[in-house]
Amino acid sequence: MTLILPSDAALSAVGADTARSGARVGEARGAVRMEVRNLCKVFADDPRPALALLRDGAGKAEVLARLNVNVGVVDASFDIRAGEIFVIMGLSGSGKSTMVRLLNRLIEPTAGSIQLDGRDLTALSKNELVEVLRRDLSMVFQSFALLPNRTALDNAAFGLEVAGVGRDARRDAAMRALDKVGLSAYAHRYPRELSGGMQQRVGLARALAKNPSILLMDEAFSALDPLIRTDMQNELLRLQREQARTIVFISHDADEAMRIADRIAVMEEGRIVQIGTPAEIITNPADEYVRAFFRGVDPSRVLRARDLARCDDRVTLVEEGEDPIAALRRLAERGVGYGYVRGRDGRFLGVLSRAEGTILNRPEPVAADAPLHSLLRRVATAPCPVPVVDGGGRFLGVLTRAALLETLDRGDDPRG
Ligand SMILES: Nc1ncnc2c1ncn2[C@@H]1O[C@H](COP(=O)(O)OP(=O)(O)OP(=O)(O)O)[C@@H](O)[C@H]1O
Ligand SMILES: [Mg+2]
Repeated sequence: MTLILPSDAALSAVGADTARSGARVGEARGAVRMEVRNLCKVFADDPRPALALLRDGAGKAEVLARLNVNVGVVDASFDIRAGEIFVIMGLSGSGKSTMVRLLNRLIEPTAGSIQLDGRDLTALSKNELVEVLRRDLSMVFQSFALLPNRTALDNAAFGLEVAGVGRDARRDAAMRALDKVGLSAYAHRYPRELSGGMQQRVGLARALAKNPSILLMDEAFSALDPLIRTDMQNELLRLQREQARTIVFISHDADEAMRIADRIAVMEEGRIVQIGTPAEIITNPADEYVRAFFRGVDPSRVLRARDLARCDDRVTLVEEGEDPIAALRRLAERGVGYGYVRGRDGRFLGVLSRAEGTILNRPEPVAADAPLHSLLRRVATAPCPVPVVDGGGRFLGVLTRAALLETLDRGDDPRG
């Protein structure tokens, strides 16, 4: 039997797009930067009765009805890792803005702790906090918060001015930031001369000019029209990729969240009801609220081959070096037409066809990172489940028509 291997080109094209790379020097990508534990915010002079009710399992509505106290955030615990885009989603009033304002202590927490790089933010003095905010955290607000009597340039430079940076240096940095958001031609215009979307971009430029390691963005793109919005999302992904910036991003928009998030936290009535990758959330929503939120999202644009790759006992593996006659007999005994040949190093080597009695180099393997929508035709027309390999050409499993249809159908079924 001849071993016909898929071409190297086919294998190396696979998985070219591995991790979003490039951590900051001295900072491991994925290391925990912020550690939030049991964070609560209730808006009351004396928060104790409300906290007691919440501890007993009361919801936001009940606390409001019984104590006339507004609940912002309830018992939130999560980590934010270096270099990730962490998206917070939820309906209006679910506590998203309160949450990010707690992260930089624009709002003081009622209970719980927030650590930044291992330092307890809630325990810092005002001066220490100012120092940390200057160095590490910048916020882009839901309302643009521009100063009306200053030009776009001076607005973009404002954060640096507050931080005590000299005039020329801060104007240079502000100009570069305006350029990044496509507004250098408007540097000397006043906010009233700019559209809402342009004002929002000035707000973003202000945050970028400070070059913070963590960017907090509250609905920063919501006033932008769809084309500019997509541009800005791409810009954000580029910034994150190149500079490994950590970004906490609030959004109302399920498609936006799915597009840019490494992980998503879904909030409901002040509580976080689920945290997961876009793929986890779409394949396994924690409850009906989460499912409803993402119902309109096309799963084939979110999920990748790896998310559906299966390697269970329904997949017949043939190991390199195994006697071909014995392997073919095994296929016959199991009543299957194909076996997947795996090298000693785990690399995928081809498909053993029972009918043809040989190893084929088709169907060609697909990359683990390939989005499902790009694979529909290949999976539909292949004679057998399509092999999936990682960036090193290692066999991860197969993609079956059934798994694909089931996933796509579940995403579209209005009954969930
Ligand atoms: N300063 C405040 N005083 C009293 N209640 C407040 C205050 N700020 C926020 N809240 C309440 O906290 C809850 C969460 O508000 P928040 O602004 O965080 O919601 P959100 O998820 O950002 O909503 P949106 O999508 O509309 O921006 C709401 O019930 C709101 O009324
Ligand atoms: Mg808000």
